[in-house]
Amino acid sequence: MDITAIKTEPYQDQKFGTSGLRGRTSVFMQKNYLQNVVQSIFDSLEKFEGKTLIVGGDGRYFNDKAIQIVLKIAVANGFGRIIVGKNGWLSTPALSHLITLKNAFGGIILTASHNPGGKDGDFGIKFNISSGAPAPVSLTDKITAKMQKIDRFWWINEPDIELGNTGERQIENTIIEVIDPVEDYANYMQEIFDFAAIKNLFKSGFTFTFDAMNAITGPYAKYIFEKLLGAPSGSVTHEVPLPDFGGLHPDPNLVYAKHLVDKMSADDAPDFGAASDGDGDRYMILGKNFFVNPSDSLAVLAEHLPDLPYYKNQFYGVARSMPTSNAVDLVAARRKLHVYATPTGWKFFSNLLQNKKVTLCGEESFGSGSNHVMEKDGIWAILAWLNIVALTHKTPQQLVTNLWQKDGRVYYSRHNYENVDAEDARHLMDSLGAQVPILKGQKFGCLKVKKAEIFTYEDPVTKNRVSNQGVIISFSNNARVFIRLSGTGTVGATLRLYFSKLEQNFDENLDEVLAPAILATTSILQIPKYLKMDVPTTIT
Ligand code: G1P
Ligand code: ZN
Repeated sequence: MDITAIKTEPYQDQKFGTSGLRGRTSVFMQKNYLQNVVQSIFDSLEKFEGKTLIVGGDGRYFNDKAIQIVLKIAVANGFGRIIVGKNGWLSTPALSHLITLKNAFGGIILTASHNPGGKDGDFGIKFNISSGAPAPVSLTDKITAKMQKIDRFWWINEPDIELGNTGERQIENTIIEVIDPVEDYANYMQEIFDFAAIKNLFKSGFTFTFDAMNAITGPYAKYIFEKLLGAPSGSVTHEVPLPDFGGLHPDPNLVYAKHLVDKMSADDAPDFGAASDGDGDRYMILGKNFFVNPSDSLAVLAEHLPDLPYYKNQFYGVARSMPTSNAVDLVAARRKLHVYATPTGWKFFSNLLQNKKVTLCGEESFGSGSNHVMEKDGIWAILAWLNIVALTHKTPQQLVTNLWQKDGRVYYSRHNYENVDAEDARHLMDSLGAQVPILKGQKFGCLKVKKAEIFTYEDPVTKNRVSNQGVIISFSNNARVFIRLSGTGTVGATLRLYFSKLEQNFDENLDEVLAPAILATTSILQIPKYLKMDVPTTIT
């Protein structure tokens, strides 16, 4: 037996959350930094010996070295089988799917999601449990506690494990199985969607472009859209996962996927454009010269998915995060579906999905998913849209505007004040919290505050309550703002303001519709005073 215990010391900065641990790549590359995390995960689990672990990453810088560390520590801890994607690659949704498909104990994914990669970018690690869902808080708290005290990790003295070819090999008592990362996921998508209909759509001359942003969905998209569905070769762009994402910031939105937005605004724009993020759980949909707001995307999915055979008899309800616009609520009211509004973060959807309260969920931050996996899923969402386009013969723009005609349009915009001083942000939120009880009735510019409240959520299944999830302010013109601090940043703090307003007329100017609420909010929050900034860093 070549398994040894190696001495280590805790890193006090390590804290494991439901998005795992994210940080600068250089921080992760410190001596035993990742080793401590991986061993602490295993030290927090029980009875996994002999069981199956799924391992993969999004291909970012350090993925190749990190995956070897994960594999060797997992072997040394006694997993029976470790299934790893070829080249060390797996998208987050594909990993989640493999966990349930292979009856695995859990899975480790190496990713910092949509954060930039590279030596000077970010790295990260997440753990998903046997349902395929991200680790719950009870487990992540345990992992954090273990990380604070760790003094050794188990290690196997072995040369690096070859991951360039599929196949199996045994090390000690563990079988390492290298698999094609795409195949099982692609098969699953064919069970869910009508591939023949989408194939016919492409055959009929419908033009399509997908931008993988040099991240993990490239191989998935190439195989699914071009090979299986027959989109012309070249429809999938930036399809090779690169360690630094080729300099792109793999977050599919109007700011970071500007090259795609430009392509979709050109005279010869394709009929349908899409992109996804670093680890493949986010997506953006564009029509010719038309941006599908993620909140509207969720509404379109809620309108049409219940009609697909796969979902027909299992469409229980929908959930959105509180900052997501209520466009989906309007569809749900018409279709008599129950809607849940949860705090930000996919973990809040997991209970609802698993307990058949909902089938579809989504966030304004370009993430949607269903009960098919316990993560949000970018390629799934794009396939869902293509399936809907194929069945309805409507363009993305028509699908969205048809809903606006029925329900009205919820004008929506998210303002981000990024990487501000954490103290400053805290002070701003404290001052806002103190104002909440007295805001009602006060006038700011031309608006009065109709209602102000702190968002507290009670999980309908577990009855667990989480407080202080953000502040909701409704104004006299029926505009609404939701205010919270980001929970995923790696430097300083990020303030997010989510503005929305329902109007029956859908040809108005977004900025003009939201301007009064934006002005009022800026003065309630005293943003220039607390953050020393006059405008948001990005509007997404
Ligand atoms: C962001 C998004 C949130 C998403 C999370 C993980 O979190 O806003 O919807 O669940 O990334 O992808 P935030 O930085 O706002 O805490
Ligand atoms: Zn992601």
